[in-house]
Amino acid sequence: MIVSTKELFKHAYGNYAVGAYNINNAEQIMGLFQGNMDSKAPFIVQLSKGARTYTDKRLLEAMIRAADEIFPDAIFAVHLDHGDEEACMDCIESGFYSSVMIDASHEDFDGNIATTKRVVDAAHAKGIVVEAELGQLGGVEEDISVSEDQAHLTDPKQVEEFVKRSGCDSLACAIGTSHGAYKFTGGQGLHFEVIEEIAKLLPGFPMVMHGSSSVPQDEVKRINEAGGDLKGAKGVDEDQISKASKMGVTKVNIDTDGRLVWCRVHREVFKDKPDVFDLRKPGTVFIGEYAKYIAHKNDVLGSSGQLEEVRKAL
Ligand code: G3H
Ligand code: 13P
Ligand code: ZN
Repeated sequence: MIVSTKELFKHAYGNYAVGAYNINNAEQIMGLFQGNMDSKAPFIVQLSKGARTYTDKRLLEAMIRAADEIFPDAIFAVHLDHGDEEACMDCIESGFYSSVMIDASHEDFDGNIATTKRVVDAAHAKGIVVEAELGQLGGVEEDISVSEDQAHLTDPKQVEEFVKRSGCDSLACAIGTSHGAYKFTGGQGLHFEVIEEIAKLLPGFPMVMHGSSSVPQDEVKRINEAGGDLKGAKGVDEDQISKASKMGVTKVNIDTDGRLVWCRVHREVFKDKPDVFDLRKPGTVFIGEYAKYIAHKNDVLGSSGQLEEVRKAL
């Protein structure tokens, strides 16, 4: 059942976070739904602009609709990740998405508010909710690349005005993470003081953590042993993710970790069985391994076991 992130966040705030997982193909969709069913968790399926053009947005959306039928007990939101204004309007008009993210964080404060507000007005008119971003993460988002020294944390003092003037429903906050597999090159962790300050100023308002992959070291080791070259890859400590999930961070975005599972499975299958050329061989292993990863991550977020409580609260 497709629901609004608003309902998911209301239930989660302060107790746990909902996993928002990026998907691009059929195998990821099967593993994602299976893993959330195994761990009995509500979740968010998120599609980036790149994912929507990789094959065709209609194909991806149709597969999600099909998964909704295949897994009738699932409760999830469908979200556009890092949209620009054009992609947001396209998703709002389609009527399929329950939530969109407008990422105008590269604009100045007033420009970010103005762009976000245009999207909010169009989305709210159709009952769709909007995530905005204030502050800038390091790494690559869609076609925009931000180096670690250009990245800047969200200023809690700006948050109240931003939310009030833009009308956004949740806020992606820059709290020290970055996108991709090479985080914290300076060695620092999450800035809990920023999370704490925002939660104090806007109690109950959902915060979103981007760049939340933990880049499991065992996964990196196995990839490198099977012929990969991911030296120095590093992610967010899982204890820190659990802590943030109880402090008002209600949506935790994960893409890179799923790509690592895909990379490890395919490298190992082809290394161990050089005669394999049936795509369903690694595909089947990947679905199972991705499902296991999702269930584990939901344990870290605290969303495991919340499914029936959420259903009652709807
Ligand atoms: O934050 C970006 C996400 O990881 C999506 O990545 O634009 O390559 O699909 P993508
Ligand atoms: P990771 O690169 O850490 O998986 O972050 C994904 C993300 O923030 C998607 O919006
Ligand atoms: Zn992101």
